[in-house]
Amino acid sequence: MSAEFIVPVELGERRYEIAIGERVLDSLPKRLPKWLAARNLPAPSLVWVLTDSNTTAFGEQVTELLSSCGLRTATMSVAAGENSKSFDCFRECLDNLIANQADRATVVVAVGGGVIGDLGGFVAAAYARGLPFVQIPTTLLADVDSSVGGKTGINHPLAKNMIGAFHQPLGVLIDTALLGTLPDREYRSGLAEVVKYGVIADAEFFTELERSPEQLLAREPERLAAVIARSCELKARVVEQDEHERTGLRAILNYGHTFAHVFEALTGYGELLHGEAVSIGMDCAARLAESVGRVDRQFVERQATLLAKLGLPVTWPQGVDVPTSTLIDRMRLDKKSVGGKLRFILPTRMGHVETVRDVPEAAVDKVLLDLQERSRA
Ligand SMILES: NC(=O)c1ccc[n+]([C@@H]2O[C@H](COP(=O)([O-])OP(=O)(O)OC[C@H]3O[C@@H](n4cnc5c(N)ncnc54)[C@H](O)[C@@H]3O)[C@@H](O)[C@H]2O)c1
Ligand SMILES: [Zn+2]
Repeated sequence: MSAEFIVPVELGERRYEIAIGERVLDSLPKRLPKWLAARNLPAPSLVWVLTDSNTTAFGEQVTELLSSCGLRTATMSVAAGENSKSFDCFRECLDNLIANQADRATVVVAVGGGVIGDLGGFVAAAYARGLPFVQIPTTLLADVDSSVGGKTGINHPLAKNMIGAFHQPLGVLIDTALLGTLPDREYRSGLAEVVKYGVIADAEFFTELERSPEQLLAREPERLAAVIARSCELKARVVEQDEHERTGLRAILNYGHTFAHVFEALTGYGELLHGEAVSIGMDCAARLAESVGRVDRQFVERQATLLAKLGLPVTWPQGVDVPTSTLIDRMRLDKKSVGGKLRFILPTRMGHVETVRDVPEAAVDKVLLDLQERSRA
């Protein structure tokens, strides 16, 4: 096995570890009893594995690993895609647990992308007032984002991620080999969040990413594991200081996202992948920071150059001609905005961002107009 990284997420009695490496999945039967013992939990009466239609094979791999060491297992697979973060799907999961006589000693294992992590985590949080759960993410986005922080949940038909709970996992296994089947576009989309960590918290990491975009695009295992580990570490340091999103510190993770959420909503979910919207959103945020005198033009160009080298967009693929005032109104509805006031996470230098509450609307308007113009060009 190649290099293995361990990232601890220090949350007191909810402390857990993320193990990252090629083939790290094979260590699940060895690790699961240790994780349970660390929380004074009994051996599992049942391990319930949730996957989606694109990750069923990985789910089966997990089931085989566990049943071959004598554990009782059950598997459920839901349709791939965001639509599975629904009340109906949530209900089907609970029905399936009951049919399998799940009790408080059941362990939930979520094997899939962010959708499965969010749904499986929420099922675990709700069933019998909380079952231990393990995450085995299979997309780069889930590796570097949803594996840290304990946010779980489903969508309300009117509001994304509105129904949920904080439920920290027992442990997370990130096996880089599982990314082998991930489509290129999904993979690159995850890289946008990786770049984000550099910009918001670690200038040196950003410079490292600049040095070897080709290695990253080639999914070179050692490099990939190191980059995922650093990303998880940077997110963990933020989450540790603001686990339940109360102090405002966790908001820095939303760099580029005020813009991104609006782009995703207005282009119709699915047309732009989340990471693509974040890439365009980070470019907008950098330009906004430039226009209010926080960074210089060179910063904007440096970030845009790296994003482009990683195959990420900084303009809309097919320009969306929505009036900028509609976009701004929509931003005010973002659940991260407070009292209808626009709030942005803006960089002041590479590796450092701040929450800014008094950005003039005219400056935001100008950035959006400029984006529309460049997208048309
Ligand atoms: N809880 C959190 O902190 C957090 C953070 C970020 C995002 N999210 C949530 O995560 C979701 C997005 O995550 P995502 O981008 O992983 O989406 P996803 O789970 O829908 O996965 C994207 C697509 O890739 C497929 N797939 C997954 N792994 C694969 C593999 N190894 N090979 C081939 N195909 C594979 C999936 O079936 C799906 O079609 C959103 O619902 C978002 O709200 C949660
Ligand atoms: Zn994001």
